[in-house]
Amino acid sequence: MNILVTGCKGQLGTELQKIADPCHHWFFTDVDTLDICDETAVEAYFEAHEIEVCINCAAYTAVDKAEDEPDLAEKINVFAPQILAETCLKHHALLVHISTDYVFGGDAQTPYRVSDPINPQSVYGSTKAEGEKRIMTIGCNYFIVRTAWLYSSTGKNFVKTMLNLADTRDEINVVADQKGCPTWAHDLAVALVTLVNQNGNQPVQEVFHFTNEGQITWYDFTLAIIEIGGKHCKVNPITTDQYPTKAKRPAYSVLDLSKIKEYAGIEIPDWRESLVKCIEQLSPVGATGH
Ligand SMILES: NC(=O)c1ccc[n+]([C@@H]2O[C@H](COP(=O)([O-])OP(=O)(O)OC[C@H]3O[C@@H](n4cnc5c(N)ncnc54)[C@H](OP(=O)(O)O)[C@@H]3O)[C@@H](O)[C@H]2O)c1
Repeated sequence: MNILVTGCKGQLGTELQKIADPCHHWFFTDVDTLDICDETAVEAYFEAHEIEVCINCAAYTAVDKAEDEPDLAEKINVFAPQILAETCLKHHALLVHISTDYVFGGDAQTPYRVSDPINPQSVYGSTKAEGEKRIMTIGCNYFIVRTAWLYSSTGKNFVKTMLNLADTRDEINVVADQKGCPTWAHDLAVALVTLVNQNGNQPVQEVFHFTNEGQITWYDFTLAIIEIGGKHCKVNPITTDQYPTKAKRPAYSVLDLSKIKEYAGIEIPDWRESLVKCIEQLSPVGATGH
């Protein structure tokens, strides 16, 4: 199949490039080669390369900055997915779109199921939720996959930030009252390719959740990052009130994974197992591997 990946220089796009299966024709693009907000350019790209699958890794992902740039966040997270969905509909292509746990309100006590009502609390979450709705309304073939707490050995992310802070500080304060699910971008990339391969050219319209297995607070996640990374830095638990951010974060954003596991027969690694692998990629010598 001819598979277009947008936003290929980001965390997820980079992992897809690493695992790209040679039995498909892959077209990796980022904003410098294909701006997904440019309707004419998107249509021309689909036409020229006979695109059959579009994996949209492009997004506006700066959660706090989005509070000050709602128009830009809306352009990239709402209007661009709409353009991709319309183009996929026209070309009978499958759109694989990535969304977020931030579409949920964060006041649940048990993992959010795919069918639970959304209630975004931030500009970023609202634009991602609206992007989902536009795709569903247009009615192309789609997989919408919500993920959370994405990290990888490339790009800016929580794991790399904590490892860097541990090198320069004796103590770090981390919120201990927000619980979620870390996701290694490599595991998500593998799951997306599995969905695409299993589906082939069949009509499909499904929403899934994919994160690593397990649930954890940012504080406990940091303790694990420091330990696995072989760093020596004290980690202090603090409350969300003690660490004000522009965008409101969900207190609880654990996603229920049962649908994707049943649908695709996917075995999802535990968060700790994947964290070890990612940190080994970052610093093979420093990682303790346990
Ligand atoms: N990161 C997380 O913790 C997290 C959590 C839940 C869900 N997600 C979702 O997962 C997906 C992948 O996230 P990620 O962390 O891999 O994102 P990322 O690292 O921020 O990568 C996004 C990529 O898209 C590019 N891009 C931005 N605007 C574009 C445009 N108009 N046309 C084409 N490319 C454009 C970016 O380029 P520039 O860098 O030049 O802007 C960047 O290379 C996103 O849909 C995101 O919302 C992420």
